[in-house]
Amino acid sequence: MTEPTPNGSSVTDLNELQDEATRAASDASDLDALDEVRVRFTGKRSPLAELQQGMRDLTPDERKERGQQLNAFKAAFAAAYDARRDQLAADALRARLEAERLDLTVPARRLPVGRPHLLTQVEHEMLDVFVGMGFAVAEGPEVESGTYNFDLLNIEPDHPARQEMDTIYVSREDDVVLRTHTSPVQARVMTTQEPPIAVVCPGRVFRADAVDATHSPVFTQVEGLVVAEGITMAHLRGTLLAFARRLFGADRQIRMRPSFFPFTEPSAEIDVTFEGHPSGWLEILGAGMVDPNVLTACGIDPDRYTGFAFGIGVERVAMLRHGVSDIRDLFDSDVRFLTRF
Ligand code: PHE
Repeated sequence: MTEPTPNGSSVTDLNELQDEATRAASDASDLDALDEVRVRFTGKRSPLAELQQGMRDLTPDERKERGQQLNAFKAAFAAAYDARRDQLAADALRARLEAERLDLTVPARRLPVGRPHLLTQVEHEMLDVFVGMGFAVAEGPEVESGTYNFDLLNIEPDHPARQEMDTIYVSREDDVVLRTHTSPVQARVMTTQEPPIAVVCPGRVFRADAVDATHSPVFTQVEGLVVAEGITMAHLRGTLLAFARRLFGADRQIRMRPSFFPFTEPSAEIDVTFEGHPSGWLEILGAGMVDPNVLTACGIDPDRYTGFAFGIGVERVAMLRHGVSDIRDLFDSDVRFLTRF
């Protein structure tokens, strides 16, 4: 760069300076470099500033001419500066968009979606049927006193069900057991509510049974109880026929066979027609008319009220409905099994 003298700088020098300045601006690699160029050519100690100062010593005519030349220089530099600044900003934006580009064609990763366990599904289906008939749902403790689990249900102290082989005792001394059925929930309802009563009692129950394909020491029941004036076995039969048809198919028939439970009299096993089963019938639940002793023990007048009760194994219904042949599949929590339902 030629050192410009205040007075004597020619138009040629100024043109050269303009070329140099605009080229430097155009070549600036980033905004900082561009700003340095601006300071170098137009700042306080720049050739431009010197030329402006030198104007003091010029004649009015010369000053006018020089002023026009300097304005032309400033305008040309400003244009080059702005152009480069806009370009750098556009480059930066393009680089950012490129870096943040999203490929919308990449297939989404599939997240595994959970669902209720088969047993929960079947239990809810069963409860839905009874709730639809007007039953309320009642629940009770899994750790239960012998009073509710046995005594109020007319199960005598010497009944085989009381023996250790069936019942898991938490404390023999205090007569605390893991409930062996959900009937104690029904006893709790009867001792606290006035008839008419219609409840279903879902829950886990416990028996000291060895594990095999059809037995588990923990399983799930849905038991039901209706107590009101004028309840007969016909109500029991109609209720369970409607249940069987909702769960197993509209054309199903049921039949009742005499049976025995300490808390019902008479008692019955209920079979439902089942294609493919050798006899054509399959036992699905136990039921009966609530024994007057049970009503009395629970504070209900057996001369005024009658009732029916039934107990259904949820695992058994799930296995029949879905062709599961080993009850252990219901407790193993193998996702390959669980995701089938
Ligand atoms: N409580 C019985 C059981 O656990 C089932 C049952 C309930 C039978 C009600 C008759 C009436 O096996």
